[in-house]
Amino acid sequence: MASRTFSRSLRSVAKSTVAPAVQRRSLTVAARVARPTLTASSRAAAAAQQTRGYKLIDFDGKGTVEKVHERSEWPAEKLLSYFKDQTFALIGYGSQGYGQGLNLRDNGLNVIIGVRKDGASWKAAQEDGWVPGETLFDVDEAINKGDIIMNLLSDAAQSETWPRIKPLITKGKTLYFSHGFSVVFKEKTKVEVPEDVDVILVAPKGSGRTVRSLFKEGRGINSSFAVWQDVTGNAQEKATAIGVAIGSGYLYETTFEKEVYSDLYGERGCLMGGIHGMFLAQYEVLRERGHSASEAFNETVEEATQSLYPLIGKYGMDYMYDACSTTARRGALDWSPKFKAVLKPLFNDLYDSVKNGTETQRSLDFNSQSDYRAKFEEELQQIRDLEIWKAGKEVRKLRPENQ
Ligand SMILES: NC(=O)c1ccc[n+]([C@@H]2O[C@H](COP(=O)([O-])OP(=O)(O)OC[C@H]3O[C@@H](n4cnc5c(N)ncnc54)[C@H](OP(=O)(O)O)[C@@H]3O)[C@@H](O)[C@H]2O)c1
Repeated sequence: MASRTFSRSLRSVAKSTVAPAVQRRSLTVAARVARPTLTASSRAAAAAQQTRGYKLIDFDGKGTVEKVHERSEWPAEKLLSYFKDQTFALIGYGSQGYGQGLNLRDNGLNVIIGVRKDGASWKAAQEDGWVPGETLFDVDEAINKGDIIMNLLSDAAQSETWPRIKPLITKGKTLYFSHGFSVVFKEKTKVEVPEDVDVILVAPKGSGRTVRSLFKEGRGINSSFAVWQDVTGNAQEKATAIGVAIGSGYLYETTFEKEVYSDLYGERGCLMGGIHGMFLAQYEVLRERGHSASEAFNETVEEATQSLYPLIGKYGMDYMYDACSTTARRGALDWSPKFKAVLKPLFNDLYDSVKNGTETQRSLDFNSQSDYRAKFEEELQQIRDLEIWKAGKEVRKLRPENQ
């Protein structure tokens, strides 16, 4: 699917400053829509709270006000002063440990890493400049030295190591997670938090690699934050400060429960599992109906990721429809409800499977096996060996920037 209309639209975007204008306008509109549905007292409360530095935004346009904290609330000097006597102990150096740890370090905060000495992370951390005995320790030693204990082990490892770790998290320390998984599903994970520490969460909405790359570009990932236990009375403030310190551009408020349900649901659905399933189904039908591999890949993945999805990301779904040919948009508008009708029951099954703990159990069972990395690698190899992704590799080579 391609059209002159589409190319014209793209050209006009490139020529004008439509992008920021559209974004600014939609924010203004959101604010205007919100006002009539707010009561006088909620407007007054909103105004008072605005002065404390966060924004109240009516995302659903129905007067449901949500609180959003922005990076500007925590300028560098304020962060340095707030955390001047605190040591961040990041336990685990996977994707999030890498992104959050390096960002904290670049923000000038006191950071140490704790990982097992014989693991892949110990080596990876050294390659990133963490020094054994100075800023790199085994897990127990790092927790003993730290004030803010950031548990960024894999979710399965959080459960497995908890009996050893829990006694080390003593009064005065803060316990931090990037997922509600361990705490919310405590019947399965056995992660019962100590009663005398603040327990908070900041969950970046993306891979730790993106947490890092956006920070380096001067941008910021969007994250959610939540408080599970507030013994000091400062847990919320601390969570937002840490959120900014690890590289968030803005943070929206949630609960541990909502975070884990939405996260497990989203990644199994549109973010990863669902989209992969849809790509495979579409590609296979094209191939079975006699289309070449290059055509099937281009019409399924390449055009999506290179042309259309970036438009949705930048300007919204309506803009993407508007940027396409009349033929394309008519068909897409007609078929979208059919896909929704077929898929919605599956999404409901998925949500049930998340909420009743089935997904948690599956993750714990698989990822706590000693050979989980090797087994995962086998599955990745099966994906690499699929015709669609082999075709993708060849298609990517043809992009002019890859020549
Ligand atoms: N990745 C994401 O996109 C993302 C996004 C938001 C939130 N989160 C959350 O952030 C947290 C960390 O996730 P992640 O993706 O960064 O890490 P991960 O890849 O899930 O976990 C990696 C870390 O866990 C350690 N580990 C695994 N088994 C262990 C064991 N038995 N004993 C000690 N250490 C063990 C690994 O050390 P070795 O190298 O020694 O094996 C490594 O340092 C999780 O709660 C996750 O849900 C992740």
